[in-house]
Amino acid sequence: MAHGLLEGKKGIIFGALDPQSIAWKVAEQAHAQGAKFTLTNAPIAMRMGKINELAEACGSIVIPADATSEEDLTNLFEKSMEELGGPLDFVLHSIGMSPNVRKGKHYTDLNYDFYHKTMDVSAMSLHKTLATAMRLDALKEWGSVVGLTYIAAQRVFPDYNDMADAKALLENIGRSFGYHYGVKKKVRVNTISQSPTVTTAGSGVKGFDSFLAYADKMSPLGNATAEECANYTIMMFSDFTRKVTMQNLFHDGGFSFTGVSAAVMDKFMEE
Ligand SMILES: NC(=O)c1ccc[n+]([C@@H]2O[C@H](COP(=O)([O-])OP(=O)(O)OC[C@H]3O[C@@H](n4cnc5c(N)ncnc54)[C@H](O)[C@@H]3O)[C@@H](O)[C@H]2O)c1
Repeated sequence: MAHGLLEGKKGIIFGALDPQSIAWKVAEQAHAQGAKFTLTNAPIAMRMGKINELAEACGSIVIPADATSEEDLTNLFEKSMEELGGPLDFVLHSIGMSPNVRKGKHYTDLNYDFYHKTMDVSAMSLHKTLATAMRLDALKEWGSVVGLTYIAAQRVFPDYNDMADAKALLENIGRSFGYHYGVKKKVRVNTISQSPTVTTAGSGVKGFDSFLAYADKMSPLGNATAEECANYTIMMFSDFTRKVTMQNLFHDGGFSFTGVSAAVMDKFMEE
């Protein structure tokens, strides 16, 4: 698929931890489409992950940044502009983490320090990223910022826990900041609401395998893969989507608008 859709474009990709990460696939596809970009992740993820292998394959450098730290984000944008030679065209926010999910806390019995952390890492980090970019004037006109989200922001998926609240906030930050950044600099901000996908963050959700199978049967086109999510993201970074902003875009094989499917009904008939 060599279209050169991002030829001459520069950006930052957050959140590539290992080859399963959605951000990893976005980086591979952005590279294939001609983009130049820096890669970033939390300093702790540098030690656990394989991001340097990806950087080598994409001709990128890695700049560690905790996405909750304004100081780290400032350094990330400054270094990225230095490395890439000027302001940027795109940013991928592909970050999620809930200590409550990790520690098995039930939604009705949350640890509130953890809850703050979930919100800060998974949602407020998008605000901090956009605010830093705006302050440094780091994005060009018609730049495109994409955050990844999940339909638990709109509908209840009980085991998604406090991540559902974080995603609701993330999507709203996308809309609110999208307004202000659009007025100020014609920068567009959108969230992509992706099917459940097998990754480190995804597999942290209880009962993930059966849930993945359920979502697949509920989606007329089947679950969207990480590679397909990457392709959609590239389209959102490209010049073909210049007037799309402040949207939450479902990329889920039709799951979001399906009430029930024949495949799921059949399963109940069997029983
Ligand atoms: N996997 C799914 O089922 C699914 C579905 C819909 C949306 N998403 C969203 O996609 C995004 C990417 O997740 P993924 O599934 O590729 O999993 P992943 O675990 O590969 O990616 C999550 C990333 O967040 C990073 N991160 C955590 N804390 C951070 C911090 N303080 N600063 C900077 N980075 C930090 C991790 O290091 C990791 O790279 C997340 O927002 C996730 O919620 C995932």
